[in-house]
Amino acid sequence: MSYPKPQVASTVRQATIDTSRRSPVVDMPPEYEGREQSFLKHSVLRKYLIEWGIKVGSASRGGNTITLWHVDCFSGPWTSQADNLEDTSIRIGLGALEAAADVWRKGGSRIETRALFVEKNPKAFAELRDFLAAQSGSVRTEALHGEFGHHVDEIRDRLGNDPAFIFVDPTGFKGAAMDYVAKLTTVRQRDVLINLMYNDIARFKKLECLREHFQDFFGGALPPELDQDAILALYRDNLKTRCGLSFSADVAIPHKTSERTWFHLVLGVNRREGLDLLRRIEKTVCGKEAGTVRASAKMRRDEKRTSQLGLPMNLGPEEDWSYAERNARDGPKALEALTEEVRRTGGARFDQLWPRVLETHHVTRTQLGKLAFAAVKDERLAVARPRAGARTVRDDERLILGPVSSEP
Ligand SMILES: C[S@@+](CC[C@H](N)C(=O)[O-])C[C@H]1O[C@@H](n2cnc3c(N)ncnc32)[C@H](O)[C@@H]1O
Repeated sequence: MSYPKPQVASTVRQATIDTSRRSPVVDMPPEYEGREQSFLKHSVLRKYLIEWGIKVGSASRGGNTITLWHVDCFSGPWTSQADNLEDTSIRIGLGALEAAADVWRKGGSRIETRALFVEKNPKAFAELRDFLAAQSGSVRTEALHGEFGHHVDEIRDRLGNDPAFIFVDPTGFKGAAMDYVAKLTTVRQRDVLINLMYNDIARFKKLECLREHFQDFFGGALPPELDQDAILALYRDNLKTRCGLSFSADVAIPHKTSERTWFHLVLGVNRREGLDLLRRIEKTVCGKEAGTVRASAKMRRDEKRTSQLGLPMNLGPEEDWSYAERNARDGPKALEALTEEVRRTGGARFDQLWPRVLETHHVTRTQLGKLAFAAVKDERLAVARPRAGARTVRDDERLILGPVSSEP
């Protein structure tokens, strides 16, 4: 099979399909119909990888040549409906890396881009290899056949000390041992995004025959009595300690039509900016985009059930229920956690405080800055040197306890 060269503009775009009856809050290519959760996953991947590449690629200013790597450890193609693999992480990863590097290349910087794709299934691997062979973009690619675990030492050696974005998207949890991930996160500029298939974990966590696989995936024992939040917390904690990463946070990708979480994408990162970025992407993807594509999926489901066309509707809650609920629940908790951090540290700059809060709360940094500012007005917090006309708390401002919170 021959494939056209990826068009960066088309792989990076938020598509613009005519939806006539549908409000174009976000446009989802038709190949994703029935796989809306994959669209949302790919949207997170694309947005994060582009911003990561732009940020890390900025080191190329001033004449340094740098190499940016993208490693897709469970690449597929898998359930793709598009002839050009436009709906796969393979093509999305390539387009995003190329787009990020182009930002700096346009200004004359020298950036090399390289990508490794690992796939175990022979048929999928053959398709992957043919697809990559037909590409003529600037990313130097290589397909590795076999299990991620079998290739991980080779991948580690190939990356050397270069920055890399590592994407771990297994079918379930087998073959994605935390010890493997740890081999690739030894360098500071390495961000890792892992798909945690909560559904599979919840179904199988009590099966004795899978105990070893869970142990490998979690990097330690998984007590069967843990609920969803505790399972995620355990994974995030282990990811930090076992992989030597400073921060970890997750976003929940909802099921296409049911009111439940389908999987979580867990980020491990050393740079606090990665947390800020993830929370902004979460608001856009799990909030706005999920609201639109899930409303559309539900409408299609209902049309099928009734064999009638649904009434024209304005698609979309502004934000999907799941994100809106999490965000509303976490706002006050985030402020509490921030206040506790201020108390614990005796006062600190906002940029020293927000990373720990954003790790475990589904709020954006901007939102937290505004919440903190409201707390300053209420005298629960105070800014060491207040600015006239301020409406939020800035990164370089020092927060201390206000008179109300200081009272014994
Ligand atoms: C969930 S799919 C990947 C989907 C892809 N990342 C995307 O978003 O388009 C997981 C893929 O990993 C492959 N796979 C399963 N176990 C593997 C292993 N141990 N090492 C590498 N690939 C594996 C499967 O054949 C499948 O193609």
